[in-house]
Amino acid sequence: MNYVVESYENYKEEDRLTTNKSRQVEFITTVRAFNEVFPASGKLLDCGAGTGIYSFYYGDMGYEVTALDITPRHINIINQELKNKGYHMDALVNDATDLSLFDDETFDVVLCMGPLYHLTDRVLREKCLAECIRVLKKGGLLAVSYISRFYMFPHIASSDKKYLNMSFGKKLIDTGVINHEDPDCFWTDSYYYSPDEIENDFNKFNIKIVDHLAADGISPLLRDKVNSMNDEEYKIWCDYHYAVCREKSILGASNHGLIIGRK
Ligand SMILES: C[S@@+](CC[C@H](N)C(=O)[O-])C[C@H]1O[C@@H](n2cnc3c(N)ncnc32)[C@H](O)[C@@H]1O
Repeated sequence: MNYVVESYENYKEEDRLTTNKSRQVEFITTVRAFNEVFPASGKLLDCGAGTGIYSFYYGDMGYEVTALDITPRHINIINQELKNKGYHMDALVNDATDLSLFDDETFDVVLCMGPLYHLTDRVLREKCLAECIRVLKKGGLLAVSYISRFYMFPHIASSDKKYLNMSFGKKLIDTGVINHEDPDCFWTDSYYYSPDEIENDFNKFNIKIVDHLAADGISPLLRDKVNSMNDEEYKIWCDYHYAVCREKSILGASNHGLIIGRK
């Protein structure tokens, strides 16, 4: 049984980035950073597309998008939504560690925003990155999201004291791995990167880093306060976050990190 797929089949991913202000910081920051460097159009592969929040954003802009995800429910939702769109998008169930469906150097942009959250095995993380890079055109952009290793303990342990134990904290610090059978598993099989580790991976694959930022900072931790902001206050909050999101200290403490590189 794939515990990652099982977990997402029983979760409403479609609500994750949209239903309140603290969650929307991640999407607002991400597209703001993307739009600084992405081409005006082109072929985009969204690996781990979820229910298509970025696929549809770029599809609506005129990109030729291919969305893939390992969770069948998510691809079904994308295909339903596509019926309301006046354009074509390929949406398929596929594992991001094997992109053999696609030829080398097919895409102008590859997004990998989700698969690395769940690849607990280093060999598979490298396979996923290698596949994303293989299908990317020379000069194309790779955008990778990760969950920060040093954010998770404060978030989980402050929400539920049963996780406030040093063996859980130490496991995160030392390995970044949580397996579904761990007594402290609060989610599913998952992997937590440090900013340095993902930069080392980009360097190892000769991908030139063009941006590296905190996608949401500590907004999810401060969700009650962020959600109570009016629109004017929220705009200031998002603008402030965007102004500091490339600070190393903010990046390491952020829930999600986002790194963009050129092949
Ligand atoms: C938290 S969601 C992120 C969705 C979207 N990319 C975003 O940033 O909002 C993570 C997604 O990655 C997918 N995923 C996890 N492992 C994967 C894999 N090995 N191959 C493809 N998709 C995977 C999950 O099914 C889920 O839809």
